[in-house]
Amino acid sequence: MAPSFGEMEPAEAESVYFNEYPPPKALPKHEALARAFVELHVEDKRRVVLVTSGGTTVPLETQTVRFIDNFSAGTRGATSAEYFLEQGYAVIFLHRQYSLLPYSRHYSHSTNCFLDFMDEAPPTDASADSDHGRIVVRSEYQDAMRDVLRKYRYAKQHNRLLLLPFTTVAEYMFELRSLAKIMQPIGANALFYLAAAVSDFFIPRSRMAEHKIQSSELPAHFQKDNSVGAEEIYTGENEEKPANSKKLVINLDPVPKFLHRLVDGWAPEGSMVVSFKLETDPSLLVYKAQTALQRYSHHLVIGNLLSTRKWEVVFISPDQPERWIRVPKSRRSKSISGVEDQVGLAEAMKGEKGPDTQTDLEEDGPKGWD
Ligand code: PMT
Repeated sequence: MAPSFGEMEPAEAESVYFNEYPPPKALPKHEALARAFVELHVEDKRRVVLVTSGGTTVPLETQTVRFIDNFSAGTRGATSAEYFLEQGYAVIFLHRQYSLLPYSRHYSHSTNCFLDFMDEAPPTDASADSDHGRIVVRSEYQDAMRDVLRKYRYAKQHNRLLLLPFTTVAEYMFELRSLAKIMQPIGANALFYLAAAVSDFFIPRSRMAEHKIQSSELPAHFQKDNSVGAEEIYTGENEEKPANSKKLVINLDPVPKFLHRLVDGWAPEGSMVVSFKLETDPSLLVYKAQTALQRYSHHLVIGNLLSTRKWEVVFISPDQPERWIRVPKSRRSKSISGVEDQVGLAEAMKGEKGPDTQTDLEEDGPKGWD
């Protein structure tokens, strides 16, 4: 049996993975845009941050009808990008297509639908024979919108923000690798801020169905002589059901892990790498974030819990005590998915499970992002 990505050395996993997929169609265009962006900001000696944001999809078919996705809306990435811009960084925003974007996030999607911020003014004299008034921003939103608009226009006019979209996990990987290499000339002025929720499991191309997975048995003459044996296809157990329908069993492989390659190869010498760690079990968060830092020897892991991620995070950095950052109670945004009562729980429960959280990792341990 071929070794899994987890059993390979990082460089071997890289070559096997990237040889299996054709590069995304948009990659050459994105690379050209990124090169020009980097050149401009190197000349100005400006710091450049690559912010990754949003979730990745995992297609189930090559001609994709269905895919697996995750919860990430891109709030963390889009909001952080605005702060970086305010601090004078140029931002490459590698984001899931249609997820939240810096600045426009204030007036987009169903939670902040831009139409709710607008009104139609009464028709003026000049248009007396028409009932068409000018479209205006409602008075109570003028100040906030002017502020956002100014910042957005500043970023655009000064070429500080480059928006590059991805959709699938494979597209994300290709884009991350290329952008990191293109950022080489930035040297120590480069920062990688990996807020994207990248899928941990995927279906290798060699085991993926080409066409839409059928939910019922096809007559024999429609069944293709696939080069991939039926038992090899990830939909494996097509258990017969009474009404001639099928059960779909999905068998996913772990996504190869490239943080080692980013830290030790792709990213410029002297650059800074910040990764994130998301957990749902409060007792695991600090342990998992510390483990990630030890394993990859990068600069900072920002830990967050799904239920409290809008209100608290923990910073784990080398040779420093962990640092909790919390939004004061009075300034906490409302969140449908969040559980405010759980703020503080991960700090209280750290180390409750498992061994001493400071134990050294075994050299030959799994090469995950964990
Ligand atoms: O978008 P929001 O709704 O605001 O949510 C924000 C967030 C919760 C998604 C974000 O704050 C966050 O925690 N992102 C990382 C989620 C995570 O735990 O990822 P991970 O454990 O699978 O990966 C660890 C790190 O490596 C992450 O920084 C990830 O972006 C990066 N990674 C992982 C795998 C991979 N193949 N490539 C990567 O770059």
